[in-house]
Amino acid sequence: MSNILGISCGFHDAGVTVIDEFGNIKFASHSERFSKSKHDANLCPAILDEAQEHGDIQTVAYYENHWLKKWRQLRAGQKVDRSLTLRSVLKNQLTPNLLNKKLVSYGHHLSHAATGFQTSTFRDATVVVIDAIGELDTISIWTAEYDLLGYANYTLRWRKGYPNSIGLFYSAMTKRVGLRPLDEEYILMGMSAYGKPKYVNDILDKYIDKLSSQTFKENMHMGVPDDFLGADADHYDIANSSQEVVEGLIYSVMDYARHNYPSKNLVYCGGVALNCLANRNLGNYFENIWIMPNPGDAGSSLGTAALAYGKQINWNDAFLGYDIPGEYPVRDILDELQVNKIVGVASGRAEFGPRAFGNRSLLADPRGSEIKDKVNDIKRRQHFRPFAPVILEEFVDEYFTMPKGFEKSPYMQAVAYCKKPNEFPAIIHKDGTSRVQTVPKDGSGIRQLLEEWLTLTGCPLLLNTSLNIRGEPMVNDINDANRFEKEYGVKVCT
Ligand SMILES: [Fe+2]
Repeated sequence: MSNILGISCGFHDAGVTVIDEFGNIKFASHSERFSKSKHDANLCPAILDEAQEHGDIQTVAYYENHWLKKWRQLRAGQKVDRSLTLRSVLKNQLTPNLLNKKLVSYGHHLSHAATGFQTSTFRDATVVVIDAIGELDTISIWTAEYDLLGYANYTLRWRKGYPNSIGLFYSAMTKRVGLRPLDEEYILMGMSAYGKPKYVNDILDKYIDKLSSQTFKENMHMGVPDDFLGADADHYDIANSSQEVVEGLIYSVMDYARHNYPSKNLVYCGGVALNCLANRNLGNYFENIWIMPNPGDAGSSLGTAALAYGKQINWNDAFLGYDIPGEYPVRDILDELQVNKIVGVASGRAEFGPRAFGNRSLLADPRGSEIKDKVNDIKRRQHFRPFAPVILEEFVDEYFTMPKGFEKSPYMQAVAYCKKPNEFPAIIHKDGTSRVQTVPKDGSGIRQLLEEWLTLTGCPLLLNTSLNIRGEPMVNDINDANRFEKEYGVKVCT
């Protein structure tokens, strides 16, 4: 067995992926889940050990071109280390045995593109990548297709370079409202529902040269002044205005991509693809949409491994991480839900990506008005942040108006309007939307649970949020699950 190890590391949220010689994903996870250090930028020994449990590694693939990145850092006046070869760049990330394997690297945006295209079912696609920054690129549009031998071919059609950056703009505004940039952008997105777009013109006047060409007047890497828009400016209004501006920028890219390249299939990757509020309108531009569940840099460990493999990857679901073996504890979860309304579950393989889909989840009965406060007490997070519903796929149209292109949404990639907001206030945001997870008839543990829950209560949905101790990464192993149970007094079924 000769496996490929894909790695992304050195910036934020290091990740690894192992692909075998048949294109099966043997393992994919984030370093933070093993080191317990949130957003760990470096590969820890424990995740590298786990990656090698799945067979010998023949090739190690790195997710970006270190030369180009150094050149950009030098140009920006940043301190650059003197490592010249890929081996020397990776010497603090890999163990000596892995450093001696064949080492290859691919461009940052190409790795993003492959993460999306080679996990999709499409034979051809227009691939849009939008992130904060790769080596030099911040937006890229590719056309992708498989050749007669099944190898993926990518052609770069259009690019936007640093310092023009949609991702850096959103991070700068995240910092402006007192949140952590490159981490808490999703909170800024959640805040936007409570504000008004009163600063849109101010933002456009000051920073955006031309919305339709995503050209900025200033380098957003430097952030914005702390008193930009006035020291007393309402943070919710700033959030709403920033979201409106970022949506205008994203849709201008999508409009260009749809009208200049033939495919009706969109593959969308890069950290900005996690903006599920903006994603609700992507169906206005493309007929078929694929956003894999880990489109940011950690997910690029999969993309770079896919490029080394060359062909389509066998993608089934996001349950690719550390395994807690055993039957999914359906009966225990149901018992706990009926008595205490809230229960944790840590069973099977952990999710690859920032969201929990049922294997490392805190689940709750979504009915009634009290449950949101109860779950918020445990999560101790801001009152404005809603929880997500997980629902049997065949019931979704009865409960939600799904946006075009996201009629099925197994990875919570777009928001939808709830048709019964009064029945389920805990999973409805201020603007009436929910970040819906639909569960197909795939025999998964969460599927079995929802089916039993429906039989028991007549309700086909549950509240689903990630299982983590505040400030820590998502629960990974049994020890983490036990610590959660002890810390919060909520049973975690394993
Ligand atoms: Fe990226």
